[in-house]
Amino acid sequence: MDKKIVIGDELGERLSQELNLPFIAFEDKVFADGEVRPRLAKEEKVDEAILIIQKKQGENINAYLIKYLLLLKKIRSFSQKTIALMPYLPYARQDSVFREGEPLSSLYIAELIERNADAFVTCNMHEHRKKIGDLFKIPAYNIFLFEDMVEKFKEFSPSTSVVVGPDKEANAFVDNFCKNFPASKLIFGKQRDRETGKVDFIYPHNAEKILEGKDVIIVDDIVSTGGTILEVAKIIKQFQIKTINFAFIHSIFGDEVINQLAVTGPKKIIFTNTLENVHYAFDIVKPLARHLLEKQMI
Ligand code: R5P
Repeated sequence: MDKKIVIGDELGERLSQELNLPFIAFEDKVFADGEVRPRLAKEEKVDEAILIIQKKQGENINAYLIKYLLLLKKIRSFSQKTIALMPYLPYARQDSVFREGEPLSSLYIAELIERNADAFVTCNMHEHRKKIGDLFKIPAYNIFLFEDMVEKFKEFSPSTSVVVGPDKEANAFVDNFCKNFPASKLIFGKQRDRETGKVDFIYPHNAEKILEGKDVIIVDDIVSTGGTILEVAKIIKQFQIKTINFAFIHSIFGDEVINQLAVTGPKKIIFTNTLENVHYAFDIVKPLARHLLEKQMI
């Protein structure tokens, strides 16, 4: 039988327990000049290794990425096959050459990862202009977590709820959420003025009727500055809704954004630990293990 192991941090250790696989930890050192030096607790010949590391709160995203790439290369020396599992894929939003002279960073980062990996797995990759298969030549899987997060909204009835997406790309998240929570859907449109950078949101003329008296759940893949989700919340709160709630996957923000979200008076703010954040409410370990097994990735 093939010998499979999980290598990683605390999140990786819990995934290994869920999958019933041996685990190897690593020491995470950062030198004074910012250089990183990850060191595995041990090395042993294996058939397959899954490398999973969560970006830590306050950690520089580039330091995280370099650490991950260094370990991938190192694992090559003792594992026949490597699965690169990055709960959040850095640089995925740079999925186009928006202005002449820019690198197509999402593709270039994917090329660096696949150099030392046989398969790639991530959660809710930002698939706006590029799908995961456009970036990777190795088998690559984008796990949608909204269908699992629905368990946190059990107290709401789908018949009296509306799931809102802030832009047309959020359609896929709303659909995934509604797979296990068949509520009404409402998709906003996001328009950016190329000159001023100002963003405007548009919504159907019957939005008021759709939202009235409802538990509203705004879903999005990423919250960074909080600008998108807060602006949509502001619009929605003009209507006679019952409750406002937020569900998102990746929390790329500091505590001030949580405070700003709290000011809108939500009943629930549910987001995951794809990135380390003490306020997370949805643990990805069990759904991740289930998706990996279901899709026969391991
Ligand atoms: C945009 O297309 C994404 O889906 C998110 O809506 C966006 O990244 C959120 O960023 P922010 O919180 O800075 O508005």
